[in-house]
Amino acid sequence: MNTLTDTFGRKFPYIRLSITDVCNYKCTYCLPQGYKKTPGDKRDFMSAEEISRLTKALSELGVCKIRLTGGEPTVRKDFFDILKDMKQNSNIPKVTMTTNGYRLDKIAQQLHEAGLDGINISIDSLNRETFKKLTGHDRLQEILTGIKILQKLNFKNIKVNAVLLKGINDSYDDFEKFGNFIKNNKIDFRFIELMQTGDNLDYFKKNHVSSKIFKDYLHKNNWIHQTHGKDAGPSLNFIHSDFEGKFGLIAPYSKDFCKTCNRLRITSRGDLRLCLFGNTGISIRHLLQNDNQKEELLDLVIKQLHLKKESHYLELGNTGITTNLSSTGG
Ligand code: 5AD
Repeated sequence: MNTLTDTFGRKFPYIRLSITDVCNYKCTYCLPQGYKKTPGDKRDFMSAEEISRLTKALSELGVCKIRLTGGEPTVRKDFFDILKDMKQNSNIPKVTMTTNGYRLDKIAQQLHEAGLDGINISIDSLNRETFKKLTGHDRLQEILTGIKILQKLNFKNIKVNAVLLKGINDSYDDFEKFGNFIKNNKIDFRFIELMQTGDNLDYFKKNHVSSKIFKDYLHKNNWIHQTHGKDAGPSLNFIHSDFEGKFGLIAPYSKDFCKTCNRLRITSRGDLRLCLFGNTGISIRHLLQNDNQKEELLDLVIKQLHLKKESHYLELGNTGITTNLSSTGG
């Protein structure tokens, strides 16, 4: 039973759980200078034990999917301990992750063996040079190899995300390249419209393009819009009989984007965030210290959810307290 329902009747079976703010990439739209320790930052991310308690408790609220995110979740030394514990000891049926694909070729087998149920990998460009410029890392090939290894292992749920960026990956030529990639490849490829955050206003002004350009491309090329599944995310999905993979589009600026919201976020330091672009985050970490705090924790989460707003105000330039996505869990 899902007890997580807000005052607008939306249900929340899905949690995005950040386990670190640290990311080793320098994506131009997120952390162009790389992750920097701020003064006084003790990097006191939740411990594996706190995460374990949290996950078990959430399963009692009917949460059926947790996505591990960051930062880059795999930079944590105990990443696999956290993943395995979640798969083996919590009652969460689906555990997925979002990653920049760093060392994917090396860890693909281990991810599969740990029982990971799905993976979202960021690849903003399939051009080696462009990829390097965008992320600060010449690592496109190891990601592509990693994907191949996963597929050989029959790993099913592979999604690739790219942030749509003006002059970088927004031409019909670029769309065609991504199309070729999913032609004989059972992968969901989704464009995310660039979002404004507290940190990236200038960048946003220069590089934001409306997702309409991609939508037009899809329509012109006979891609067919698929209706939403039950625990589906916010992406609009498109299928085509000549392609094994799917195209998708995540357009946070579109009308009604928030209507299908089904996720809550928990930051690496144990703050519950009701919306990526909201103004509030309350700490639930003090209730993760002991197994006997579980009821209190569940009560607090349910109470907080009643404060969730109907919509974000991103289209008004109101980015809430999100400075960049590495601090909130992309
Ligand atoms: N706008 C849109 N997408 C972003 N991501 C990170 N920052 C932004 C932003 N400002 C993406 C990452 C990753 C996903 C989790 O979020 O590239 O694919």
